[in-house]
Amino acid sequence: MHTTRIMVGTLAALGALGSASAQQKSAADGIAEYRKMLEDGNPAELFEAKGEDLWKTPRGPKKVSLQSCDLGLGPGVVKGAWVQMPRWFADTGRVQDLESRLLTCMEKIQGFSATEIAATPFGKGEQVTLEALSAWISAESRGMKIAVPQAHAEERRFYALGQRAFFFRGGPMDFSCASCHGEDGKRIRLQDLPNLTKNPGDGVGFAAWPAYRVSSGEMWSMQRRLNDCFRQQRFPYPGYASDVTIALGVFMGVNARGAESIAPALKR
Ligand code: HEC
Repeated sequence: MHTTRIMVGTLAALGALGSASAQQKSAADGIAEYRKMLEDGNPAELFEAKGEDLWKTPRGPKKVSLQSCDLGLGPGVVKGAWVQMPRWFADTGRVQDLESRLLTCMEKIQGFSATEIAATPFGKGEQVTLEALSAWISAESRGMKIAVPQAHAEERRFYALGQRAFFFRGGPMDFSCASCHGEDGKRIRLQDLPNLTKNPGDGVGFAAWPAYRVSSGEMWSMQRRLNDCFRQQRFPYPGYASDVTIALGVFMGVNARGAESIAPALKR
């Protein structure tokens, strides 16, 4: 019942956001207002609660919970893990972001097929599980400062790779990520475009995702955010949890070091 009330509130507030007065302001102002209206009824909390439940419930072909999953700070340690990812994992010999690491755990611990989940469209099947897990795991680091590590040589290589991907121009519009996110004070329509080549500030850019999309009622992980930006860039969609998406995460995450994480944030 409580759930229904929150959702109805969401729709009403969304209507208010789309009003004529909202058009004078940027989407950021609108979202800030909306966030205040919601106060103790943030719909992202529903996803967080579901994510916590999914973490603790025995699931998959092996019927085991994810509680022994190592997110970088030791098996089962969730608090603080999000703000230190992507990072190097010795057991897989890869730099992994949260989503690719969760795929590893779901395969090794629970017996799911990581390849199958990676090929599943957003918002379907086990992708829904990943979105809820990302919401809860990131929420467990809310208020902490981004501290994406660069101690391992592979982490530094991924930063350089991410930097190259960020500035790589191509496609029919000759866009790179930097075309839209390389300067201060840029906007598309009413949306502020953060400068992601440096630290854009507390709770902005890397420090805001995963986020609850008010417009669609969906929880988007950073993987889905990036996927949509590849579309805006007129680039082919990247593979889910592929190295280029992780490298972009390292680049943005290291640039955002010291910024306070508000993930999962509320977004338009
Ligand atoms: C054509 C312009 C365009 C290009 C190119 C583009 N983006 Fe975006 N990006 C946007 C817009 C618009 C938003 C805000 C979307 C929204 O609020 O719905 C956004 C949002 C983001 C955000 C979230 C910012 C925040 O504070 O919430 C990140 C992170 C991001 N983009 C990363 C990237 C990366 C990495 C690339 C290159 C692969 C890229 N973008 C390419 C237009 C672009």
